[in-house]
Amino acid sequence: MKITIYGSGYVGLVTGACLAQVGNHVLCVDVDPDKIRRLEQGDIPIYEPGLDKLVRDNAAAGRLRFTLDAAEGVKHGLFQFIAVGTPPDEDGSADLRHVLEVARTVGRHMDEYRVVINKSTVPVGTADRVRAALAEALAARGVTAEFDVVSNPEFLKEGAAIEDFMKPDRIVVGTDNPRTGELMRALYAPFNRSHERVVLMDVRSAELTKYAANALLATKISFMNELANLAERLGADIEAVRVGIGSDPRIGYHFIYPGCGYGGSCFPKDVKALERTARGSGYQAELLAAVESVNERQKQRLFEKLHAHFDGNLKGRSFALWGLAFKPNTDDMREAPSRTLMEALWDAGARVQAYDPVAMHECRRIYGERPDLALCDSPEDTLEGADALLIVTEWTHFRSPDFDLIKQKLAHPLILDGRNLYDPKLLQQLGFQYLAIGRGG
Ligand code: UGA
Repeated sequence: MKITIYGSGYVGLVTGACLAQVGNHVLCVDVDPDKIRRLEQGDIPIYEPGLDKLVRDNAAAGRLRFTLDAAEGVKHGLFQFIAVGTPPDEDGSADLRHVLEVARTVGRHMDEYRVVINKSTVPVGTADRVRAALAEALAARGVTAEFDVVSNPEFLKEGAAIEDFMKPDRIVVGTDNPRTGELMRALYAPFNRSHERVVLMDVRSAELTKYAANALLATKISFMNELANLAERLGADIEAVRVGIGSDPRIGYHFIYPGCGYGGSCFPKDVKALERTARGSGYQAELLAAVESVNERQKQRLFEKLHAHFDGNLKGRSFALWGLAFKPNTDDMREAPSRTLMEALWDAGARVQAYDPVAMHECRRIYGERPDLALCDSPEDTLEGADALLIVTEWTHFRSPDFDLIKQKLAHPLILDGRNLYDPKLLQQLGFQYLAIGRGG
């Protein structure tokens, strides 16, 4: 099948490479000449395990191509995927400028039937706006070709995106036209494995499903963080509580890990956008507002603990920080808890010695060179003379460190762990003061 994808960012590239991998002919269109040039040379602008090989292999096989030419894109694919960015506006709502521009582009160039598929995360009702923008551009040319607009939200996790695309739990397809539903089923047939994964529904429900999924996952995390803070005050251990409740299949073990808050490009943005959509429709989504504010507060927890520990005397101190990315297996630092922590430390006059396996260049890009930030070559190097070790991202190789070395190098045997990686009893035996999340102290 022939597929065109507008937007060669994270979602667009993963979608394009995976659809090419099962034998389709995919053309990726982007407005950024530098990005297209790099992609044509096999240089992948984002970090995602397995993506570079997938892109290079499929490009070499002639199934995946890149272009700046939108007209060529409209001619190429029966399926026209919109996978451009929807950055939040000042007020938290999604900015649809790029999405609607793609719709107009398709309208300006199409002259036979096209299925326009929205993959970007967009507010409920966007498909109607895409339909209107496209129809207007078509009408301006006096062309009467038919088209359908489909909502097909993506549920990829950064760091596991290829796996999520190739082996999806479900593929949500929103369309009001049964014939288009069948076309979409055929497109996704290679990803079905043991049973049909396509869940067909109306367009608006599909649009809301995306927000519902992210908002519920964010709610689970904020709920656990709230309970963790409570557990600290009550002398309970949230990790025991987590296992205790997770064993109930109605609750489950997933996404109930307490920590120093959720970050990334999705949860914070989507919870805010859904709350705003609710407000716009005249409904006060109180739970969503609380999920968001609990998370904001949680991102401050490590700093609060540190501040309390040193009686507010943080000026001139140095801290080792492990993990900059908002979660493991990505270099993404958008809304990362590490940023809240570092910025609070800098405001307090402290210095940060940081290490992350892949996000160092991203950190340098965001903060540049500054005297109160040292980006170190290894986790061990961060410890040199530091007043405490702060753990923000649960990269696997932070899980079993050389505690003797840590103790030797730190000026104080103090570890603040935002991801509950270690056994508090063991750390106590080793002579550390260990402050984690929801585990006393
Ligand atoms: C999230 C969703 O999980 C995907 O299904 C969705 O497709 C994606 O957003 C999106 O909308 O594009 P992602 O943001 O990549 O994916 O990352 P997650 O693995 O969901 O983690 C989000 C944040 O929650 C991280 O900061 C993580 O550390 C935190 N988290 C996660 C917790 O604090 N506790 C948990 O139990 C799980």
